[in-house]
Amino acid sequence: MTTLVKNGTIVTASDRYVGDIYIDKGVITLIGQGLNLPADTVIDASGKLVMPGGIDVHTHLDMPFGGTNSADDFETGTIAAAHGGTTTLIDFAIQNFGEGLYPAFEQWMGRAQGRAAIDYGFHMIVRELSDQASHDMDRMTRHEGISSFKLFMAYPGVFQVDDATIFRALLRTRDNGGLICMHAENGGVIDTLVKEALRQGHTAPKYHALTRPTRAEGEATGRAIALAEMAGVPIYIVHLSCSDALEKVKQARDMGLPAYAETCPQYLFLSYEDYERPGFEGAGYVMSPPLREKWNQEALWKGLQKNDLQVVSTDHCPFCMNTPPQKQLGKDDFSKIPNGAPGIETRLMLVWEGVRAGKIDVHRFVEIVSTSPAKMFGLWPKKGTIAVGSDGDMVLFDPDRELVLAAKSLHMRVDYNPYEGRAMRGAPAVVLSRGEVIVDHGEWKGRPGRGEFVKRQAGRPLVP
Ligand code: URP
Ligand code: ZN
Ligand code: ZN
Repeated sequence: MTTLVKNGTIVTASDRYVGDIYIDKGVITLIGQGLNLPADTVIDASGKLVMPGGIDVHTHLDMPFGGTNSADDFETGTIAAAHGGTTTLIDFAIQNFGEGLYPAFEQWMGRAQGRAAIDYGFHMIVRELSDQASHDMDRMTRHEGISSFKLFMAYPGVFQVDDATIFRALLRTRDNGGLICMHAENGGVIDTLVKEALRQGHTAPKYHALTRPTRAEGEATGRAIALAEMAGVPIYIVHLSCSDALEKVKQARDMGLPAYAETCPQYLFLSYEDYERPGFEGAGYVMSPPLREKWNQEALWKGLQKNDLQVVSTDHCPFCMNTPPQKQLGKDDFSKIPNGAPGIETRLMLVWEGVRAGKIDVHRFVEIVSTSPAKMFGLWPKKGTIAVGSDGDMVLFDPDRELVLAAKSLHMRVDYNPYEGRAMRGAPAVVLSRGEVIVDHGEWKGRPGRGEFVKRQAGRPLVP
């Protein structure tokens, strides 16, 4: 199968020029001007920005959590991702207690294979670092193309591990070239505050935020970085939400340490005020870390501008409000509201708001939604750029396309949207995955199961 994309403005993290792209059997084989080659599919990209497909390195599809499963599975979630211009994602597979890492890998493969419509990889969530799990970290990094592992400093009894475990996992990556991704919140402090709040009869969704102070994130972020420094390895902080935590990353980077972090659109656009919505509406915004006071947003944008934050991912982890009643599980107790919110489809459009507002330029846009995620997690240059030899994953982005975000018209399988009614300008028009048009002006052209598992390389992140 061959595809020719003509006359688009090709934009990468470093370049911008008008040109044509020829894709043969899924791989870009030629880039030039005035290419006149026969092709099975010819696409006129005049007036469009042709950018590498988005890479979302933080998703939770079909994830068991808080007594239910996240609402999107690998079929619905990847179709929604594609509509939003994302062509590769990395999901989190959760180690089962008492087992090594392989059974979870097989479970998540079972969930994804035959369903995923875009390419995918996995990070492994490590809950117990047994000898078997340590051994599996090495084996997965070396042989399976799974080169990153998430550890939690919060959720005692569910995910949280202690400092010794974190340190041992970090040491393991020193030897095998993997990367530790850290959920950095102080679980002990939070757990105590939650119990105290409930004792006082505070059960509403806003107490989720009020019991997870920014200092608890800042403290854990600083501790995680210090542990990584002592182990002599890089570290990647996931879903960083606030200035307190960003300051720790900044300090470390100023010292020359390989500390990296992602933030997510919800922390750039939403705030604590969303928990004050009437009735139980605030539950739709319950996620961890929680939404912060609005002033943090500017600090995060600055972090993206200055490369103290390198990536914008989604932490897509949707739970329905009412149909089925998932968030309702915490109707009388905020600590039982399943944590997470939808976002897999809206990431590029929302971050584009930053380009329109002059906060970042178009090259930085490509960098934080595609190129740096690829370089951070061993996908580059197969993914994350437009170059000869790279996969033909691309978004023909229309900077003038207008739409209003609404749960009804978006494709995520969830009955609300945190940005309901927000007017956007700039959205994907056509999306290609390995040269195949999978979304054409809002119309789904792909098929479930066409997505492939991507083996990722290990080694130090290639991001500055
Ligand atoms: O609230 C969140 N973030 N849910 C997903 C689990 C996690 O910690 O990433
Ligand atoms: Zn997390
Ligand atoms: Zn997450």
